[in-house]
Amino acid sequence: MPAQEPYLYSAEDLFAQLSGNPDFVLLDVRNEKDFQNFAVEGPGFLPYINIPYYDFIEDIETSVARVPAGQKIRVVCAKENSAKFVSEQLLANGFSDVGYLQDGIVSWGNMLAPRKLTPDDAPYELHQIIRPGKASCSYMLIVGGEAAVFDPSANIQFYQDFAKERGAKITKTFETHRQADYIAGSIPLQEAIGAEIMVMPQDFTGAGFPFTPLADGQTLSLSNGPEIKVVHSPGHTLGSTSYLIDHTFLLSGDTIFIQSAGRPDLGGKSEEWSRILYLTLMITLRDIADNVLILPGHYTTWAEANDDLIFAAHLGELKKKNIAFHFIHEGKFAAFIEENLRPQPAVYGDIRRINGGWLKVDLEEQNSMDLGKNECGASNYGKAGVSAESQRQG
Ligand SMILES: [Fe+2]
Repeated sequence: MPAQEPYLYSAEDLFAQLSGNPDFVLLDVRNEKDFQNFAVEGPGFLPYINIPYYDFIEDIETSVARVPAGQKIRVVCAKENSAKFVSEQLLANGFSDVGYLQDGIVSWGNMLAPRKLTPDDAPYELHQIIRPGKASCSYMLIVGGEAAVFDPSANIQFYQDFAKERGAKITKTFETHRQADYIAGSIPLQEAIGAEIMVMPQDFTGAGFPFTPLADGQTLSLSNGPEIKVVHSPGHTLGSTSYLIDHTFLLSGDTIFIQSAGRPDLGGKSEEWSRILYLTLMITLRDIADNVLILPGHYTTWAEANDDLIFAAHLGELKKKNIAFHFIHEGKFAAFIEENLRPQPAVYGDIRRINGGWLKVDLEEQNSMDLGKNECGASNYGKAGVSAESQRQG
């Protein structure tokens, strides 16, 4: 009897299952170092184990014996072929339901999961587009046939298809700041479809691409849709900007997250920028209504998501619960930042240069640079995390 074929699943399939109640064991066959550096993380609770591919090559019997018998197994590897090989070995050795990830861990790293934020009868659509592999969020506003993206990742095909499916074309791309932790999709969108790049100029002085400079307090809109107000909110970077849409949603970039704030040390001026961030939190955000929904650029864990797996919270709630609002003065805030400092991954320098339009890399290099969870939050969650060297190799 011919051996059963393993089942090929996509990163989207994996995310859909992790968003429910996953009933399988996830088996990662990358080497231990890569597994420690970057792993699949989703909302669901599941057993996730690591048995390197080379262990299967060296000693198939012992390695198969380490896989929990009688379970459904989903295998992940770097590219696809090792996971396929291991899946076939498991099927040949008593397992009956085994799948392997199409295009490997990079496809997980680049996968985007949209969540609609506006009700069906609203005059415009706003979507949060979560990138589970980076723990980051981009956004798309659609009004009439026009769409704008905010902080797009480099997977621009997704955004173009997503807009097209809704009868819209992307005309503008907004950046909340010059990203250090992932390769932004704004330049590729400008090159591919002529999208107008909208940024606060402080982070993009001398940029290697044309952009439209924004100013604090400026308002604009798409197709006579809701007001988009530019709110300069520096601290994470000097040009950090939030966008207040329809007096209702604040796309806060890396200024404020659900549980923390953006780290102000990435520019090498931790003390000075801590103070700037403190004043942004205490003055700029104080002036924004408590019922505005904060939509952050990053999250730390899925525990921050609401029941609809959306990362959002009202500003009033954050003022009560988010640690960033709970320092009695700027000195205590700066001390907290100082205590939680951790090295930034070495690759961030090159990513910043790419996002400024000064460096171009090929797709393979881009995928390797862009893989790994963000390190943008000023919390101690990431303190024990990724060293510069390991991130570079992740
Ligand atoms: Fe950032």
